[in-house]
Amino acid sequence: MFNDIKEILISEDELKEKICKIGTNISRDYKGLNPVFITVLRGSIIFVCDLIREVNIPISLDFLSVSSYSGQSHTGVVRIIKDLDENIENKNVILIEDIIDTGLTLNYIVNMLQERKPASIKVCALLDKKVRRIIEVPIDYKGFEIPDEFVVGYGMDYNQKYRNLPFVGILNEEILKND
Ligand code: IMP
Ligand code: MG
Repeated sequence: MFNDIKEILISEDELKEKICKIGTNISRDYKGLNPVFITVLRGSIIFVCDLIREVNIPISLDFLSVSSYSGQSHTGVVRIIKDLDENIENKNVILIEDIIDTGLTLNYIVNMLQERKPASIKVCALLDKKVRRIIEVPIDYKGFEIPDEFVVGYGMDYNQKYRNLPFVGILNEEILKND
């Protein structure tokens, strides 16, 4: 698995330090607001697990699963596979994403959640692949801006593999070419 990685882009230590900062900021901004962390499965699970342990105010968790990718290329289709378990009306929502690429997925999800009349929605994304953006979406809490490379690890996959790598790495081009 490690042989398939060309380069470690963000190390475990760098991830930990950044997530600690984001957690501190969220704790400060949401004092008394009991935010709901809505995590987009499956890529964001490791991020949210580490993030909530850096947050020192009461929160709740809910999960959403959408499908927008098959392999490396964007299909442009966003499909809801699993909806939220709880009602978010009048709740303060923080949407947790692993990576924003074209922005199409996030845009779709934010619009869908807005219709449910939450008190507020903010976006927290670990990675921002800004150069690939098709639809502009505001990111309120951001981890790292990254170059236009396909990354895996720390929850993120390529064809369901590599999610358990503890760092964010760039995949060898041969792996992508052989697909
Ligand atoms: P978007 O709709 O193009 O912004 O795609 C967002 C989703 O695509 C992310 O939440 C990821 O699940 C997936 N994705 C985009 N880029 C990468 C990548 O470099 N590695 C792994 N997954 C990615
Ligand atoms: Mg995702």
